[in-house]
Formats: sequence, C-alpha cells, structure tokens
Amino acid sequence: MQYSSKGIFKSEKEIKGDCMQTGVGQSHAKIILIGEHAVVYGQPAIALPIFAVQARVTVTLEPALQTPQIKSTYYNGPLEQAVGQMQGIRRLIEQLWHALDPNLTPFELTIESDLPPERGMGSSAATAVAIIRALFATYHQELSQQRLLKLAALSENLIHGNPSGIDAATTGATTPLWFVKGQPLQPLPINLKGYLVIADSGQKGQTGAAVKSVQNQMMSNPEQTQPLIDHLGYLTQQVARNIAQNELTVLGANLNRAQLDLRALGVSNARVDHLIDVANQTGSLGTKLTGGGRGGCIIALAATQSAADDLAQALSAAGAIKTWIQPLHAL
Ligand code: MEV
Repeated sequence: MQYSSKGIFKSEKEIKGDCMQTGVGQSHAKIILIGEHAVVYGQPAIALPIFAVQARVTVTLEPALQTPQIKSTYYNGPLEQAVGQMQGIRRLIEQLWHALDPNLTPFELTIESDLPPERGMGSSAATAVAIIRALFATYHQELSQQRLLKLAALSENLIHGNPSGIDAATTGATTPLWFVKGQPLQPLPINLKGYLVIADSGQKGQTGAAVKSVQNQMMSNPEQTQPLIDHLGYLTQQVARNIAQNELTVLGANLNRAQLDLRALGVSNARVDHLIDVANQTGSLGTKLTGGGRGGCIIALAATQSAADDLAQALSAAGAIKTWIQPLHAL
C-alpha cells in the first residue's frame, strides 16, 4: 500500500505519476591550469571548467522497487550496499533523499560519466554535482549555486581530503577561477583563442603521496623547495594575465616553466614525462601535468583545431588512454 505526502492512500493515477517522475542532472570536468601543489602553501592556482568532458545522472522514481538502485560503470545494485569508492556518493544520495522526499519513494539512479576517476579532473565532484542536480530536478526543488557547492563540498570531504580545498571549491566551475586557500573564489576574465588538449596517462594520480613528499622536502630542504613554490606562484600570476590578454605563446612558455618546477618538486613521473615530451615534439605550445601528479592527466596547448587534433593523435599513439579537446574561446 502506498501513501501520499498528506498521509492518505495514493490513487493509481498518483502512483503512475510517480513512476514517470524523472530528473536529469549534468556537470562537467575541471582541471587545474596552473598552481597545483604551490596552492597548498598559500600560492594562487587557476582552475578551468572542461565542458568537453561531461557527467550525466538520471533519477527515475520507481515505487515498485524495494529500495533505491544505482546503475554505473563502477557499481550496479542497491544503494544501501554501495561501499568503498561509492561510500561518499551513497551518503550524499541518502542525505538528499531523506531531505527531499517525505515518502522515501524508491528510485533508480543512473550515472553516465566521461570523467576518468582519480586523474585530477574532479570526477567524484562532478558526479556529486550531477547527482544533486538530478535529485533536485526530480523533486522540482529550486537549487541555488551556493547550496549546490555546499552539498558537493560535503560529499567531497567524505570522499577524500584535499589539503588546500581547491578541488571541492572549484566543483562545477563554469568560468576560470582564481583560488587562494582560505579566500573566496574569484572568477577570472578570459579572452583566449586556442585549444587545450587533455590526455589521460592511464595511471591513477597519487595526490596524497605527492603532497606528502613535497611536505617532506619543504621540511628537509626548504632552501631548494620554497623557491620552486614561490616561482609557481609567480607563474600563476603571469598566466592570469596571459589568459585575459590572449597571449597564447607566452602562456605556453609559462606552462612549460611550471612543469619544470613540478618535475623538480618530484611530482611528475616517467610516464607523464614521456607524454609531455611527445606533446612538445608534436608542436605543443606548452605542456604540463595537471592536479596531484605521479600519473593522472597532462594538458597541452595548441593554437588551432588541427594542431590540437595532431597532438591528441600523437598522445594516443604514445600511450594516452583517452584524449579530449577543449576550445578555449568557449570558456
Ligand atoms: C590536487 O588536485 C591539487 C593539489 O594542489 C593538492 C591540493 O591543492 O590540495 C596537488
């Protein structure tokens, strides 16, 4: 027997209406253009939305089901049995379901995502944003950007610690963002013609280990480590100007300089270095790792769509398991 929110028996029409109730939520990836690692020590970083890489969540109310069900690449089954990597997502869904649906009607929630997990593209955050949007849409509830970010940050903190907070804060970014730890986010002006090629090395990034090793170097060898951090901060300031003033070639050179600093900090690795070398030999204007490093993704800059296509092809031939092209004029 089914009850409506008013506590009375539901009519067949109401139940059929529930069956049809569907909500869709979409989101996209983000990358750190420059400033990773230095941002942990108070330097600025710039995050960019990557609309070319999308996540989509569909929720359909299914009163005939016993419990909510999840369908995704990583897990298929009852929500209550989703554990491990899915734990944060599960808690987020349960929290929203209890807040939004007094009847606790079971549903099927399908996650379709192009974002590779643990590659510095904000996969878990993008999934959380799409889930929040889909559930609010299902129950026809208004969702402010502020509330969305707060809910996404909650679930991100459950999933993994992020020492500077940049990953949670830049979740669902729709413009380039200037981030300084502990300060409000600032949207950055952008006027840039060019293309960013993103390539997945196929190796999971090791943000935690990389952050820890920089911390150890900071303690054991501050004379060499602090100047690298300061220089990354300086380069980030330059890059903010480059993207506002369409200085594509200088931007590329600054990305290359940042990669030298990151390599000197020990957060690159052989596979990432190889892909970066291949991109530079194929005409990239500037190439670096993005995110925590020691795996994950690299980014390479191109002036034209055909140069970006050539880079994507060369990177795939060199072992990248996936590539994407984000036009910068679309940001
Ligand atoms: C990870 O996406 C970015 C790092 O700078 C860590 C952090 O800021 O917390 C490596």
